[in-house]
Amino acid sequence: MEIIEHITNIFSKTFRDKPAHIARAPGRVNLLGEHVDYNDGFVLPAAIDRATYIAFSPTDSDQTTLIAADLNQQAFFSPQTIPSKIQTDSSPLPDWAHYPAGVMWALLENELSTPAMKAVYSSNVPRGSGLSSSASVEMAFTIAWQTLGRWTLPAMQRALLGQKAENQYVGVNSGIMDQFASACGVENNLLLLDCRSLEWKTIPLPDDVAIVIADTTVRRKLTSGEYNKRRAACEEAVRLLQKDLPDIKSLRDVSVEEFNRFARKLPDEVSKRARHVVQEIERTNQAEALLEAGNVERFGELMNECHVSLRDLYEVSCPELDTMVRIAQSLEGCYGARLTGAGFGGCTVNLVAREKADGFAGLLANNYESETRLHPEIYITRASKGAELLA
Ligand code: GLA
Repeated sequence: MEIIEHITNIFSKTFRDKPAHIARAPGRVNLLGEHVDYNDGFVLPAAIDRATYIAFSPTDSDQTTLIAADLNQQAFFSPQTIPSKIQTDSSPLPDWAHYPAGVMWALLENELSTPAMKAVYSSNVPRGSGLSSSASVEMAFTIAWQTLGRWTLPAMQRALLGQKAENQYVGVNSGIMDQFASACGVENNLLLLDCRSLEWKTIPLPDDVAIVIADTTVRRKLTSGEYNKRRAACEEAVRLLQKDLPDIKSLRDVSVEEFNRFARKLPDEVSKRARHVVQEIERTNQAEALLEAGNVERFGELMNECHVSLRDLYEVSCPELDTMVRIAQSLEGCYGARLTGAGFGGCTVNLVAREKADGFAGLLANNYESETRLHPEIYITRASKGAELLA
């Protein structure tokens, strides 16, 4: 595979040796259950066939040396320097290195050993596109340190440590979905996760449908600030609703009917955010039965409803995402289309009849380009395996 060859070459040139190991961790796409993981809801992602790859070897020095091949940059850190987010020469850690350093930090906090390594990594998950490139970096480094540290943790525990790195070291208050999907992915299957109990199961993707990912190529800045604000609004809604519903712990505990009864007591914006969450959890609750019954039409309609809700209630869409979704929904073979991931730019996910998928992708690209003058990337993805050490 090209990307493995690429990092292996850089590794050999830089360190004058072959890498001892290669780790791989995928990105993810989410079909239903958006912005509900941090509300204890249900999500339905799949790991995709794009991933972060690391070529790595142990080293005698106590300094970890990383090369980000995609950025052509290096960083150096050790357990002593990471708490203050600096490198071994006392200069600040570059932003991209916060993800691997955050993983080292979270592992050390949990008393897992993180032997120094020399490593080169690269990813074909586009960054900032809603496909969890950062979780894939975190999960790949977790595998690398698990390998060198000679400890083993179940995939869900590794996901939780990645989330801890992201929340407490990088500073994004994200839920568990991305790291979970990257760690636990199963080929040809969707993953249905209960974000409260962390129980999960696989749901096979019907053979005659394809998942098509469409990248608007728009990247928004300040996403993490907006993301944290959405999360705060949900927490505010819980606090206010608890006056009438004292037993609720999160929006997961509020039914649509209860919400309708008390919504008018909430400030406008808080009410819109919470309405999305309560209804989205309700939609995700229907997913399993629909897919099992092969009712892809209705499942696709739920995806379309989800997009409207993310656009109008949660307000995390943008004109380019709306255009991509509108065009997709008008094309033959498309069951459902919506933005995927946190929003504010990035990708849409489309459920399409398999025999129509190639034609769909071509028309979607052409029509989007002629409306926006942007050149999108559109590809049919495969649900893939979770993070792993490659032989
Ligand atoms: C980001 C976060 C996830 C999840 C999604 C929205 O991808 O990392 O935890 O909240 O946004 O569903």
